Amino acid sequence: MTNKFPKNFLWGASTSAYQVEGAWNEGGKGPSVQDVKEIPQGTTDFKVASDHFHRFEEDVILFKELGLKAYRFSISWSRVMPDGVVNPEGIAFYKKLIKLLCENEIQPVVTVFHFDLPLYISEKGGWENRETIQEFSRYCQVLFDHFAQDVPLWQTINEQNVMALAGSVIGTSQKSMKEKFQENHHMLVAQAMVTKIFHEGNYQGKIGPAPNIASVYPASNSPADQMAALNMSALRNWLFLDVAVFGKYNHNAWHILESIDAAPEVTREDEEILSQGTCDYIAFNYYNTMTVGSYFDKENKLDQQSGFGIPGFFQTMENKNLPLTEFGWPIDPEGFRFTLNDIYSRYRIPLLITENGIGANDTLTEEGLVHDQYRIDYLKEHIEQMALAIEDGVEVLGYCPWSAIDLVSTHEGMVKRYGFIYVNRTDEDLLNLARYKKDSFYWYQELISKNGAGESDEN
Ligand code: BG6
Repeated sequence: MTNKFPKNFLWGASTSAYQVEGAWNEGGKGPSVQDVKEIPQGTTDFKVASDHFHRFEEDVILFKELGLKAYRFSISWSRVMPDGVVNPEGIAFYKKLIKLLCENEIQPVVTVFHFDLPLYISEKGGWENRETIQEFSRYCQVLFDHFAQDVPLWQTINEQNVMALAGSVIGTSQKSMKEKFQENHHMLVAQAMVTKIFHEGNYQGKIGPAPNIASVYPASNSPADQMAALNMSALRNWLFLDVAVFGKYNHNAWHILESIDAAPEVTREDEEILSQGTCDYIAFNYYNTMTVGSYFDKENKLDQQSGFGIPGFFQTMENKNLPLTEFGWPIDPEGFRFTLNDIYSRYRIPLLITENGIGANDTLTEEGLVHDQYRIDYLKEHIEQMALAIEDGVEVLGYCPWSAIDLVSTHEGMVKRYGFIYVNRTDEDLLNLARYKKDSFYWYQELISKNGAGESDEN
C-alpha cells in the first residue's frame, strides 16, 4: 500500500456516551430513553457500561498510548441538561475529558446526540413534538458556548437514518412509518437549526451530520433491480445527506414517502431553515453495503444493517459474494471505497469516517491477552480501500473506527465487542472492569505511528 494519507490525517477511534460511560444516575444525570428501554434477553443494560465516567483518565492515557490523533465521542444530553436546566456537574465532566484529551494532543470530535434522548423529552412526545427542536437548539447552544473553543469537529445527530428506518432494533422508536418520518423531519429541521446557530455564532470548527451510509448494489443487472438500488439508496442514504448538504429533500426519497403515506408535513418556515443550515463536511458510519432486488413479498429479518423492503420499491437481499461477521453483518472493504466515492462524487465536501469496525465475541486469555486477528484483518482491509479512495481523489479528513474501547452494543450486549481495549466484564457479571490491550491495539498503534503505511509497506 502506498501512503496516501495526508500528514494531518485524523487517526482516531469512537465511542458513544450511553454505551461507554455508565454512571447512569450519577453526577446529576437524568434518565435517557436508553436507561428505560426493554433490554433484549441475555444482554446487559447500560447502567454501568464500561464505567468510562469513573475511569476516563485511565482510558485517555490508553488512547494516548494507542497514538490516537482524534477521539470521537458523544455528549449525553441527559447528563448536561437532565430536565432542561444545565447541570454544572455534567458540564464539568466533559470539560475535564476535553481538557485531558487536548493535553494529550488528541483532538476531541464530538457528536451531540447519539440515540439517548432524555426521558423527560421523550415523555413529552420526543421528536414527534416540534418543541423538541427548540430543546435541542438550547442544548446545542450550551454545548457550543462551553466547548466549541476546544472542539474543532462537531456532528449533530448520529445515524438519524437508522433511528428512522430501524428504530425498533436499537430501541429508539416503535412507531409507524408516518410517525417516524414526521419525527425524522423534525430532527432534520433541528439539525439545520443548530448548524445555523453554529455558523452564526462564528464558532471555530466544522459541523456536519453523521448518518450510517451504505452504498446499495442491485442484486442483478436487470433494470428493475437497478431501479430498486436507486430507490433504496435514495431512502436510506440520500434523503439524509441531500437535506444536510443541499437543504432539500431528495426527489426519489420524497416520492417513496408519498407512495407509502409517510411524507411528513413540511412548513414554509421548515423549508427556510433547512436551506439555511447546511453542513460543512459529512461524517458517516460505514459497516457494510446493501444489496437489493425489486420488491417481492417475503418475511425479512430486520436488523439495522440487514435491512428491509418497501412494497413496490425494493427488497433487501443476501449478497453471496460477501462473507459475514459472526453476528451476520456482511464484510465489504471494497464497498467502503465504493461508498466513499459514491458520497464524494455527489456532494464534493470533505468526509470523516466516524465508525467502522467488526463486532466479535473476543476471548481474554489467562495471560491477559486478546488475539483478535479477525479485527486486524477487517480494519486493515478497510484502511487499504480507504487509501485507494483517497488515491481516487476523495477528500477524507480522518478515520475513527468503532470502537476505542469495548462498550455495550446497541442490542447485543457485551458479547459483541468492537474495541481496541478489552473491558473485563460480561453481560451477567461486572467482574473488575479492568482494561487490557488487544492485539489490534498494538497493530493500530504501529499503523498510526507510520501514518497508515502500516505493515504493508514493509511487505
Ligand atoms: C452504529 C451505532 O449503529 O453501530 C453504534 O452508531 C453501534 O451505536 C454500532 O454500537 C454497532 O452496532 P451494534 O448494534 O453492533 O452495537
